[in-house]
Amino acid sequence: MKAYELKEAGSVDQLQIIEIAKPVATANEVVIKSKAISINPVDIKTRMGKSLYNEFKQNYSPIIIGWDVSGVIESVGESVTQFKPGDEVFGMINFPGHGKAYAEYVSAPASQIAKKPTNISHEEAAAATLAALTAYQILRNYIKTGDDILIQAGAGGVGHFAIQIAKIMGAHVRATASAKNTVFVKGLGADEVIDYTRQPFEDVVSNLDFVLDALGGDTLKRSVQIVKESGKIVSLPSGAIIDEINELAKSRNVEAIFQMVVSNGEDMQQIADWLETGKLKAEVSQVFTFGQLRDAHTAVETGRTRGKVVVKF
Ligand SMILES: NC(=O)c1ccc[n+]([C@@H]2O[C@H](COP(=O)([O-])OP(=O)(O)OC[C@H]3O[C@@H](n4cnc5c(N)ncnc54)[C@H](OP(=O)(O)O)[C@@H]3O)[C@@H](O)[C@H]2O)c1
Repeated sequence: MKAYELKEAGSVDQLQIIEIAKPVATANEVVIKSKAISINPVDIKTRMGKSLYNEFKQNYSPIIIGWDVSGVIESVGESVTQFKPGDEVFGMINFPGHGKAYAEYVSAPASQIAKKPTNISHEEAAAATLAALTAYQILRNYIKTGDDILIQAGAGGVGHFAIQIAKIMGAHVRATASAKNTVFVKGLGADEVIDYTRQPFEDVVSNLDFVLDALGGDTLKRSVQIVKESGKIVSLPSGAIIDEINELAKSRNVEAIFQMVVSNGEDMQQIADWLETGKLKAEVSQVFTFGQLRDAHTAVETGRTRGKVVVKF
């Protein structure tokens, strides 16, 4: 089968197609014939030598990145009872481990996937994996009905799922986006959209129960200041909560938290249920072919893509 090997840290040219053996399912695994995969900022960071790169370099050869997949089960291990060949499934595979999703076939623990809802495409299903799980795993820990919250980067992969999930959970949701995305973000159910290019968000919002920060840096620092006493802020980029942020948060009696998404089939099932009932929708703004995967990386690297970028087979 064809797979993309990450040869070295660097530009998209380091992603090169190789021919390797198809994976074989161990007892608790399934092998999925991929129909679509999605690309995340962590893929870009790892390709550039940050994030998971060093760990992968030490432990795996070839390095095959990618975690988000939707496809059809080809074979199942002897202990797998909940899935059978031919089932359409989706999930985030082995994150933060060696997911190996940039390939025509991928093996996945059966405990990490769910059946793909029949009302959505493989492209939409592949999109509703890492980003959707991140939003769900964080929001269920930190918000409750009636909370007044802000989602930074509401038009992004995590942000667009977070707005919808926070509305399902009964929060009052504000989100930031640039002018070109305000109609889109409003359509996701946001009660208020702040065009961060026209006015600093801290001029129009304060005293919040919770902020989901997708950006880190200066945005995170300014975001801490709009959370009320005893409120919480979760920052998504790893390493963003530096000492200065912790001190600022502590001085305001705000809790600043980093949480990493983890593969989980039960959580995927919740995502599947919401997708099936139409409560949750995946925005797929760009679709590339497997041969164009490097172009998909270049798009996500801009940090300005709407919803999700997907690669189809
Ligand atoms: N901790 C974890 O487990 C975890 C999980 C997932 C992601 N992450 C991290 O979280 C971050 C976000 O991930 P993502 O997938 O949501 O990213 P993404 O899809 O690449 O985000 C792109 C979006 O960001 C918006 N944006 C850019 N600058 C902005 C600003 N200053 N204010 C408001 N919006 C802005 C853009 O909207 P406009 O064009 O309208 O500006 C664009 O739609 C990444 O660093 C990622 O690595 C961490």
